[in-house]
Amino acid sequence: NIKGALFDLDGVLVDTAKYHYLAWKELADQWGFEFTEADNERLKGVSRMRSLEIVLEVGGISISEEEKLAKAEQKNERYLEYIRRMDASELLPGAKDYLYRLKERGVRIALGSASKNAAFILEKVGIADLFDAVVDGTKVAKAKPDPEVFLLGCRELGLKPDECAVFEDAEAGVAAAIAAGMYVVGIGSPANLGAANRVVGGLDELAG
Ligand code: G6P
Ligand code: MG
Repeated sequence: NIKGALFDLDGVLVDTAKYHYLAWKELADQWGFEFTEADNERLKGVSRMRSLEIVLEVGGISISEEEKLAKAEQKNERYLEYIRRMDASELLPGAKDYLYRLKERGVRIALGSASKNAAFILEKVGIADLFDAVVDGTKVAKAKPDPEVFLLGCRELGLKPDECAVFEDAEAGVAAAIAAGMYVVGIGSPANLGAANRVVGGLDELAG
């Protein structure tokens, strides 16, 4: 039986992918190339710097390490302008109900996200209090598919990996959860999340 639940943030609890997309697209526009929503799929679950490298690759652009830092900072400023306006209406269907349901059952809850803005977003959408631990991009050195983020979350909950389940929408995140030795529920389509123990379309299917 599961004692701990670890949640990815973007694409599982909130739909921030659209804001990441808009902010990256503005950079691409400035460089003068098209950055599509299909390209954006490659950025899901990927760290900010790695995302920038993918955007540059799509545009066939190369810049210095110093410029990369400046561009990543510029993207984040734009992203912050979007997420500052977020509220509870941006929680994905079933997210809050499912978190409450787990709480009622005594399941401990942690966040396992690559985002450095994760704690801020949890506050904005009003679910920060539901988390017993928050592991985000400010705490981990190795990005998904490395299991670090989930292993740290599980440790902060005082549990063992086989007592935890992970909820993930990104392929790299599912791989990270498997590498951590945890039960993994893919949120999205079996087409790319087939490696998960179970795949559902959204948390509403579990909260029901
Ligand atoms: C999540 C998102 C990625 C994002 C990453 C870093 O994993 O799925 O799209 O690039 O977090 O987010 P940050 O807020 O630190 O730029
Ligand atoms: Mg995600």
